[in-house]
Amino acid sequence: MPAPSRDITDTVIAITGASTGIGAASARLLLEAGAKVVVQARRRERLDALAQEFGADRVQVVVGDVQDPASATDLVSAAVDSFGRLDSMVANAGIGIYGGILDTSDEQLQVMMRTNFEGTVWAVRAAVAQFRRDPGAGGDVVVVSSVAGLRGGADEAVYAATKFAQVGLAGAPDREVRTEGIRVTAICPAGVKTEFAIGAGRTEGDPELDEYLLPEDVAHAVVTVLQQPRRLRTTQWQLWSMGQGS
Ligand SMILES: NC(=O)c1ccc[n+]([C@@H]2O[C@H](COP(=O)([O-])OP(=O)(O)OC[C@H]3O[C@@H](n4cnc5c(N)ncnc54)[C@H](OP(=O)(O)O)[C@@H]3O)[C@@H](O)[C@H]2O)c1
Repeated sequence: MPAPSRDITDTVIAITGASTGIGAASARLLLEAGAKVVVQARRRERLDALAQEFGADRVQVVVGDVQDPASATDLVSAAVDSFGRLDSMVANAGIGIYGGILDTSDEQLQVMMRTNFEGTVWAVRAAVAQFRRDPGAGGDVVVVSSVAGLRGGADEAVYAATKFAQVGLAGAPDREVRTEGIRVTAICPAGVKTEFAIGAGRTEGDPELDEYLLPEDVAHAVVTVLQQPRRLRTTQWQLWSMGQGS
Protein backbone atom coordinates (compact mmCIF):
# COMPACT_ATOMS: atom_id res chain seq x y z
CA MET A 1 0.00 0.00 0.00
CA PRO A 2 1.49 3.41 -0.91
CA ALA A 3 2.41 5.73 1.96
CA PRO A 4 -0.45 8.13 2.66
CA SER A 5 0.20 11.63 1.43
CA ARG A 6 -1.87 14.80 1.41
CA ASP A 7 -2.06 16.82 -1.80
CA ILE A 8 -0.80 20.34 -1.05
CA THR A 9 -1.56 21.75 -4.49
CA ASP A 10 -2.82 25.35 -4.16
CA THR A 11 -2.39 25.40 -0.38
CA VAL A 12 -1.01 28.73 0.82
CA ILE A 13 2.19 28.62 2.84
CA ALA A 14 3.95 31.56 4.52
CA ILE A 15 7.70 31.20 5.07
CA THR A 16 9.93 33.48 7.12
CA GLY A 17 13.63 33.71 6.27
CA ALA A 18 13.02 32.63 2.68
CA SER A 19 15.75 34.66 0.94
CA THR A 20 18.48 32.02 1.36
CA GLY A 21 19.27 28.60 2.80
CA ILE A 22 16.56 26.36 4.27
CA GLY A 23 13.76 28.89 3.76
CA ALA A 24 14.58 29.47 0.09
CA ALA A 25 14.94 25.71 -0.54
CA SER A 26 11.62 25.08 1.23
CA ALA A 27 9.85 27.73 -0.85
CA ARG A 28 11.17 26.17 -4.05
CA LEU A 29 10.26 22.59 -3.09
CA LEU A 30 6.79 23.65 -1.94
CA LEU A 31 6.23 25.48 -5.24
CA GLU A 32 7.34 22.36 -7.10
CA ALA A 33 4.78 20.40 -5.05
CA GLY A 34 2.08 22.79 -6.30
CA ALA A 35 1.71 25.11 -3.29
CA LYS A 36 1.53 28.90 -3.33
CA VAL A 37 3.97 30.73 -1.08
CA VAL A 38 4.26 34.06 0.68
CA VAL A 39 7.92 34.65 1.36
CA GLN A 40 9.52 37.02 3.83
CA ALA A 41 13.01 38.26 4.66
CA ARG A 42 14.83 41.58 4.83
CA ARG A 43 16.58 41.21 1.44
CA ARG A 44 13.96 41.90 -1.22
CA GLU A 45 16.05 41.12 -4.32
CA ARG A 46 16.41 37.42 -3.50
CA LEU A 47 12.69 37.07 -2.84
CA ASP A 48 11.84 38.97 -6.04
CA ALA A 49 13.93 36.52 -8.08
CA LEU A 50 11.72 33.65 -6.87
CA ALA A 51 8.56 35.62 -7.65
CA GLN A 52 9.84 36.38 -11.15
CA GLU A 53 10.62 32.72 -11.77
CA PHE A 54 7.26 31.30 -10.59
CA GLY A 55 4.97 34.30 -11.16
CA ALA A 56 2.97 36.55 -8.86
CA ASP A 57 0.00 34.19 -8.99
CA ARG A 58 2.08 31.66 -7.00
CA VAL A 59 4.62 33.77 -5.06
CA GLN A 60 4.01 36.90 -3.01
CA VAL A 61 6.90 38.82 -1.46
CA VAL A 62 6.69 40.59 1.91
CA VAL A 63 9.82 42.38 3.07
CA GLY A 64 10.08 42.38 6.85
CA ASP A 65 12.25 42.01 9.91
CA VAL A 66 10.93 39.23 12.18
CA GLN A 67 12.07 41.16 15.25
CA ASP A 68 9.08 43.42 14.59
CA PRO A 69 5.76 41.80 15.62
CA ALA A 70 4.04 43.60 12.71
CA SER A 71 6.13 41.55 10.27
CA ALA A 72 4.10 38.45 11.15
CA THR A 73 0.70 40.10 10.80
CA ASP A 74 1.88 41.66 7.50
CA LEU A 75 2.88 38.20 6.27
CA VAL A 76 -0.46 36.62 7.17
CA SER A 77 -2.41 39.57 5.73
CA ALA A 78 -0.50 39.26 2.46
CA ALA A 79 -1.45 35.57 2.24
CA VAL A 80 -5.13 36.30 2.84
CA ASP A 81 -5.24 39.39 0.59
CA SER A 82 -3.37 37.72 -2.29
CA PHE A 83 -4.55 34.13 -2.13
CA GLY A 84 -7.65 34.25 0.09
CA ARG A 85 -6.35 31.97 2.83
CA LEU A 86 -3.43 30.71 4.90
CA ASP A 87 -2.87 26.98 5.31
CA SER A 88 0.61 26.82 6.84
CA MET A 89 3.30 28.92 8.47
CA VAL A 90 6.97 27.94 8.32
CA ALA A 91 8.78 29.94 11.03
CA ASN A 92 12.32 29.56 9.79
CA ALA A 93 14.13 32.93 10.01
CA GLY A 94 17.11 32.79 12.31
CA ILE A 95 20.68 33.86 12.93
CA GLY A 96 23.63 32.28 14.69
CA ILE A 97 26.48 34.14 16.35
CA TYR A 98 28.72 31.59 18.02
CA GLY A 99 31.01 32.23 20.95
CA GLY A 100 31.81 31.22 24.52
CA ILE A 101 29.46 32.26 27.28
CA LEU A 102 31.80 35.10 28.31
CA ASP A 103 32.40 36.23 24.73
CA THR A 104 28.80 36.79 23.63
CA SER A 105 27.90 40.45 23.99
CA ASP A 106 24.60 41.70 25.39
CA GLU A 107 23.73 43.04 21.94
CA GLN A 108 24.41 39.66 20.32
CA LEU A 109 22.26 37.95 22.94
CA GLN A 110 19.41 40.37 22.31
CA VAL A 111 19.47 40.13 18.53
CA MET A 112 19.55 36.31 18.61
CA MET A 113 16.71 36.14 21.15
CA ARG A 114 14.59 38.67 19.29
CA THR A 115 15.15 37.07 15.89
CA ASN A 116 15.09 33.37 16.73
CA PHE A 117 12.67 33.25 19.66
CA GLU A 118 10.49 36.36 19.58
CA GLY A 119 10.27 36.22 15.78
CA THR A 120 8.91 32.69 16.11
CA VAL A 121 6.37 33.76 18.73
CA TRP A 122 5.03 36.48 16.41
CA ALA A 123 4.79 34.04 13.50
CA VAL A 124 3.06 31.29 15.50
CA ARG A 125 0.59 33.73 17.07
CA ALA A 126 -0.31 35.37 13.77
CA ALA A 127 -0.81 32.00 12.08
CA VAL A 128 -2.94 30.45 14.85
CA ALA A 129 -5.09 33.61 15.03
CA GLN A 130 -5.70 33.37 11.28
CA PHE A 131 -6.46 29.62 11.40
CA ARG A 132 -9.07 30.32 14.08
CA ARG A 133 -10.88 32.74 11.74
CA ASP A 134 -11.87 29.68 9.68
CA PRO A 135 -12.90 27.15 12.36
CA GLY A 136 -12.57 23.55 11.26
CA ALA A 137 -10.13 24.31 8.44
CA GLY A 138 -7.12 23.49 10.63
CA GLY A 139 -3.59 24.53 9.70
CA ASP A 140 0.07 23.78 10.10
CA VAL A 141 2.91 25.53 11.85
CA VAL A 142 6.44 24.33 11.23
CA VAL A 143 9.15 25.80 13.45
CA VAL A 144 12.70 25.37 12.20
CA SER A 145 14.68 24.92 15.41
CA SER A 146 17.89 22.85 15.64
CA VAL A 147 19.46 19.88 17.38
CA ALA A 148 21.09 22.69 19.38
CA GLY A 149 17.58 23.20 20.79
CA LEU A 150 17.60 19.68 22.23
CA ARG A 151 21.09 19.67 23.76
CA GLY A 152 23.49 22.55 24.12
CA GLY A 153 26.95 22.67 22.61
CA ALA A 154 30.23 24.41 23.33
CA ASP A 155 30.44 27.96 21.96
CA GLU A 156 26.72 28.17 21.28
CA ALA A 157 25.15 28.75 24.70
CA VAL A 158 22.98 31.69 23.68
CA TYR A 159 22.16 30.38 20.22
CA ALA A 160 21.20 26.99 21.72
CA ALA A 161 19.06 28.72 24.34
CA THR A 162 17.08 30.49 21.60
CA LYS A 163 16.60 27.13 19.87
CA PHE A 164 15.49 25.44 23.14
CA ALA A 165 13.00 28.29 23.49
CA GLN A 166 11.58 27.50 20.05
CA VAL A 167 11.18 23.80 20.93
CA GLY A 168 9.41 24.73 24.17
CA LEU A 169 7.20 27.16 22.32
CA ALA A 170 6.22 24.58 19.69
CA GLY A 171 5.29 22.01 22.33
CA ALA A 172 2.71 24.24 24.00
CA PRO A 173 0.44 25.12 21.07
CA ASP A 174 0.50 21.47 20.01
CA ARG A 175 -1.28 20.79 23.31
CA GLU A 176 -3.48 23.90 23.05
CA VAL A 177 -4.74 23.72 19.47
CA ARG A 178 -4.44 20.10 18.34
CA THR A 179 -8.16 19.53 18.87
CA GLU A 180 -8.83 22.42 16.45
CA GLY A 181 -7.00 20.54 13.72
CA ILE A 182 -3.88 22.69 14.02
CA ARG A 183 -0.60 20.80 13.89
CA VAL A 184 2.66 22.23 15.23
CA THR A 185 6.00 20.65 14.32
CA ALA A 186 9.53 21.51 15.44
CA ILE A 187 12.11 20.43 12.86
CA CYS A 188 15.53 20.10 14.47
CA PRO A 189 18.34 19.78 11.91
CA ALA A 190 22.00 19.29 12.71
CA GLY A 191 24.45 21.57 10.84
CA VAL A 192 23.25 22.64 7.40
CA LYS A 193 25.50 23.95 4.63
CA THR A 194 24.06 27.46 4.15
CA GLU A 195 25.26 31.05 4.61
CA PHE A 196 24.32 30.65 8.28
CA ALA A 197 26.91 31.90 10.81
CA ILE A 198 29.61 32.33 8.15
CA GLY A 199 31.92 34.92 9.72
CA ALA A 200 30.13 34.53 13.06
CA GLY A 201 31.63 31.24 14.18
CA ARG A 202 31.76 29.33 10.88
CA THR A 203 34.27 29.79 8.06
CA GLU A 204 33.41 29.46 4.39
CA GLY A 205 35.34 26.58 2.79
CA ASP A 206 35.80 24.72 6.09
CA PRO A 207 35.90 21.00 5.09
CA GLU A 208 33.59 20.21 8.04
CA LEU A 209 30.80 21.91 6.11
CA ASP A 210 31.05 19.17 3.48
CA GLU A 211 29.63 16.70 6.03
CA TYR A 212 26.66 18.96 6.75
CA LEU A 213 23.08 18.50 5.64
CA LEU A 214 22.02 20.38 2.51
CA PRO A 215 19.23 22.97 2.72
CA GLU A 216 17.21 20.74 0.37
CA ASP A 217 17.36 17.93 2.99
CA VAL A 218 15.57 20.14 5.51
CA ALA A 219 13.21 21.48 2.85
CA HIS A 220 12.23 17.88 2.09
CA ALA A 221 11.36 17.39 5.78
CA VAL A 222 9.19 20.54 5.70
CA VAL A 223 7.30 19.30 2.63
CA THR A 224 6.90 15.80 4.10
CA VAL A 225 5.43 17.19 7.33
CA LEU A 226 2.90 19.28 5.41
CA GLN A 227 1.99 16.38 3.12
CA GLN A 228 1.02 14.11 6.00
CA PRO A 229 -2.66 13.22 6.02
CA ARG A 230 -4.53 15.31 8.57
CA ARG A 231 -5.04 12.33 10.90
CA LEU A 232 -1.25 12.34 11.57
CA ARG A 233 1.14 14.85 13.08
CA THR A 234 4.88 15.02 13.65
CA THR A 235 5.70 17.02 16.75
CA GLN A 236 9.49 16.85 16.49
CA TRP A 237 11.86 15.77 13.75
CA GLN A 238 15.63 15.43 14.28
CA LEU A 239 17.66 15.37 11.10
CA TRP A 240 21.34 14.45 10.74
CA SER A 241 23.57 13.63 7.78
CA MET A 242 25.34 10.26 7.88
CA GLY A 243 28.63 12.16 8.26
CA GLN A 244 27.53 13.97 11.42
CA GLY A 245 28.01 12.35 14.79
CA SER A 246 25.12 12.86 17.20
N1 LIG B 1 22.62 26.17 8.99
C1 LIG B 1 22.59 25.39 10.05
O1 LIG B 1 23.58 24.73 10.41
C2 LIG B 1 21.30 25.24 10.83
C3 LIG B 1 21.14 24.09 11.62
C4 LIG B 1 19.98 23.93 12.35
C5 LIG B 1 19.00 24.90 12.30
N2 LIG B 1 19.19 26.03 11.52
C6 LIG B 1 18.14 27.04 11.53
O2 LIG B 1 17.60 27.13 10.23
C7 LIG B 1 17.04 28.43 10.05
C8 LIG B 1 17.46 28.95 8.68
O3 LIG B 1 18.88 29.08 8.66
P1 LIG B 1 19.75 28.78 7.36
O4 LIG B 1 20.74 27.76 7.73
O5 LIG B 1 18.90 28.59 6.18
O6 LIG B 1 20.56 30.17 7.29
P2 LIG B 1 20.60 31.35 6.22
O7 LIG B 1 20.88 30.83 4.86
O8 LIG B 1 21.51 32.36 6.82
O9 LIG B 1 19.10 31.89 6.21
C9 LIG B 1 18.57 32.66 7.26
C10 LIG B 1 17.31 33.34 6.75
O10 LIG B 1 16.73 34.08 7.82
C11 LIG B 1 16.51 35.41 7.38
N3 LIG B 1 16.62 36.33 8.51
C12 LIG B 1 17.64 36.46 9.40
N4 LIG B 1 17.37 37.43 10.26
C13 LIG B 1 16.15 37.93 9.92
C14 LIG B 1 15.34 38.97 10.43
N5 LIG B 1 15.70 39.70 11.50
N6 LIG B 1 14.15 39.22 9.82
C15 LIG B 1 13.76 38.49 8.74
N7 LIG B 1 14.49 37.50 8.22
C16 LIG B 1 15.68 37.24 8.81
C17 LIG B 1 17.55 35.66 6.31
O11 LIG B 1 17.10 36.64 5.39
P3 LIG B 1 17.57 38.17 5.32
O12 LIG B 1 19.00 38.23 5.78
O13 LIG B 1 17.37 38.51 3.87
O14 LIG B 1 16.64 38.91 6.21
C18 LIG B 1 17.57 34.31 5.62
O15 LIG B 1 16.53 34.23 4.67
C19 LIG B 1 17.49 29.27 11.23
O16 LIG B 1 16.44 29.39 12.15
C20 LIG B 1 18.61 28.43 11.84
O17 LIG B 1 18.73 28.65 13.23
C21 LIG B 1 20.29 26.19 10.78
